[in-house]
Amino acid sequence: MDIVVSGIRSTGNLHLGNYIGAIRNFVKMQEENHCFFFIADYHSLTTHPTPADLYDSVKSVLVEFLACGLDPEKATLYIQSDVPEVAELYLLLNMNAYLGELERCTSFKEKIRTQPNNVNAGLLTYPTLMAADIIIHKAHKVPVGKDQEQHLEMTRTFAGRFNRMYHVDYFPEPVAYNFGEELVKIPGLDGSAKMSKSENENGAIFLTDPPEVIRKKVMRAVTDSGPTQHNQPKPLPVENIFLLMQAFSEPEKYTYFNDLYNRCEIRYGEMKKQLAEDIIAFTAPFREKIETLSGDTDYLGKVARMGAEKARESASKTIRDVREIIGFKGM
Ligand code: ADP
Ligand code: TRP
Repeated sequence: MDIVVSGIRSTGNLHLGNYIGAIRNFVKMQEENHCFFFIADYHSLTTHPTPADLYDSVKSVLVEFLACGLDPEKATLYIQSDVPEVAELYLLLNMNAYLGELERCTSFKEKIRTQPNNVNAGLLTYPTLMAADIIIHKAHKVPVGKDQEQHLEMTRTFAGRFNRMYHVDYFPEPVAYNFGEELVKIPGLDGSAKMSKSENENGAIFLTDPPEVIRKKVMRAVTDSGPTQHNQPKPLPVENIFLLMQAFSEPEKYTYFNDLYNRCEIRYGEMKKQLAEDIIAFTAPFREKIETLSGDTDYLGKVARMGAEKARESASKTIRDVREIIGFKGM
């Protein structure tokens, strides 16, 4: 049975990109694999949340995990900071992670650009913490969206380096995973290539967004004045609306609007209205469950404690082995 690990940072509510790129796969994978899914709250400290914000966002991601269909009886659901063994493995991996390779990481370069006043060591070593998250359970598969491909490549580098350095075959080299397809990227409504909460919140639709907010966001989505020649390629913001329709509407509706586009008869208003209603229908069951679960603090506490216990059992075994391999044998 494959071991599967993945995490989501606790930096706010989950959006449609998170669901399609990651969580939808978590839900499927929990049926037939040994799964560990966690809330990456150590990772979220790179942006310096207040204690109250940190708590609220961890809680909301846990609620949203459950509302999306993650089952704490089937998968191990836990909060990263409940498993301090991860922090120890992170420290050990950092000793063999090189400045050059960390600096070359695209997500780090992007952070230097977007937050030049907060380029902290946590950002630089984000990939080693992520590698620790994954290899602490000796994972084989990591369900993530396309943006995480490079982090997975670095995880394989760190795992392979450890094995070679200590002449062991201890850590598997995990692969990024999506069911039967390429890794996916859901675009933003604002013309950006990736729906994201950290980079362009306005282009994101959250699972918690009520219908009127979804309608407003979709109707505001960037388009253009329409094609002037038959069968023209679509400019990025328009392509995005079509990609969203492909993900959330019936295939016939996509074909209908695509044909109109190719005949230069497209009316974006009509298309966006349809897309908004389809997204509302898609998210409605999640919204309902989120509302019910949010108030059930006892249940959430129980889930988190149970997850922490199972995750620590697996993590502490790895840490015992790793200490032994490295040569920390005690006196
Ligand atoms: P964000 O970029 O909004 O901050 P995260 O980085 O927390 O989102 O992403 C959590 C998970 O969701 C990762 O596996 C990531 O690959 C996936 N993901 C995020 N945005 C998208 C997207 N637009 N399309 C597909 N997957 C995505
Ligand atoms: N870096 C991931 C993201 O931004 C979150 C994450 C942290 C993660 N640790 C992980 C994902 C381990 C998969 C496995 O989305």
